[in-house]
Amino acid sequence: MKISARTSIYGVIGYPIEHSLSPMIHNAAIEALGIDAVYVAFHVKPGMLKDAVYGMKAIGVKGFNVTMPFKTEIVSYLDQLDEETAFVEAVNTVVDVDGCLVGYTTDGLGALEVLKSTVGNLAGLNIVVIGAGGAARALVYHLSKIPCDITILNRSVEKARFIVEKLRSNSNAKLSYRSLSEDDQKAVIPKAHIIVNATPVGMTTPGCPISPSLVNSSHIVFDMIYWPPETQLLKEARLRGATIVNGLPMLVYQAAYSFKLWFGIFPPLDVMFRVVEEEFSRYGER
Ligand SMILES: NC(=O)c1ccc[n+]([C@@H]2O[C@H](COP(=O)([O-])OP(=O)(O)OC[C@H]3O[C@@H](n4cnc5c(N)ncnc54)[C@H](OP(=O)(O)O)[C@@H]3O)[C@@H](O)[C@H]2O)c1
Repeated sequence: MKISARTSIYGVIGYPIEHSLSPMIHNAAIEALGIDAVYVAFHVKPGMLKDAVYGMKAIGVKGFNVTMPFKTEIVSYLDQLDEETAFVEAVNTVVDVDGCLVGYTTDGLGALEVLKSTVGNLAGLNIVVIGAGGAARALVYHLSKIPCDITILNRSVEKARFIVEKLRSNSNAKLSYRSLSEDDQKAVIPKAHIIVNATPVGMTTPGCPISPSLVNSSHIVFDMIYWPPETQLLKEARLRGATIVNGLPMLVYQAAYSFKLWFGIFPPLDVMFRVVEEEFSRYGER
């Protein structure tokens, strides 16, 4: 990679940011395609987000990703949101269009891609999404366009209800919601074809978001968490014979959709997957 005065700058903002895999993923694709750009990580302290965003605009950063803890707060500092992002109220990608900062989320498309590449056709399937935060909302937004059966289980049931009420009038899917209580889990999990964990339980909080005894060998269990690569939920599901998928492919797909927003072309997925898998195997050796 040769950096000159003409090189375009892209990046990711978050706090902390030093463990982000995004620079590795994007720079590998930029290099493979011979684009004159570089992607760097910006460590933005809480309380400094507004300055950071205006600074990005002032120095002509062409686009950037947004990660924890700024995905929601950044909405107030952007000029425009696309329709999906306005519903999700969480941004993971910003594009500078002639000085106008436009916010997008690619998490939903990334998660949808994981489900489609694992299952194929999602029509007619019964899908349980655990969580009602930004990632869950983004996935359900896309799933609602498919004639399937979606139940959102969330600790705060009113957040799940909000998603269902917002999407219901324009949905091809049958949408419902419940709490995460044991009774509600028992009522929906056994009927599900696919179970998606869109909570941080298993990463920042130990344990399983649902009772593992409800999981069986007919289930496909997708956990959006990629570190640890096998959460307790995935381990329990694997031991019960279920098909399991972690958050690593979602990480790559959401990155690929961000890349497409910035550069107008879909990046080579094999290159992106290779660098992430190499990095994960290095973690495993430590
Ligand atoms: N692989 C990827 O590329 C990728 C991309 C995006 C996100 N993710 C992962 O997806 C997960 C969700 O992210 P997000 O951005 O949607 O987060 P978020 O907006 O903060 O939402 C978190 C959700 O998890 C629920 N939750 C949190 N702690 C819980 C607990 N102890 N028990 C039960 N429910 C709990 C919250 O419930 P309440 O509503 O009750 O608070 C909320 O619905 C995270 O693990 C994140 O790392 C992965």
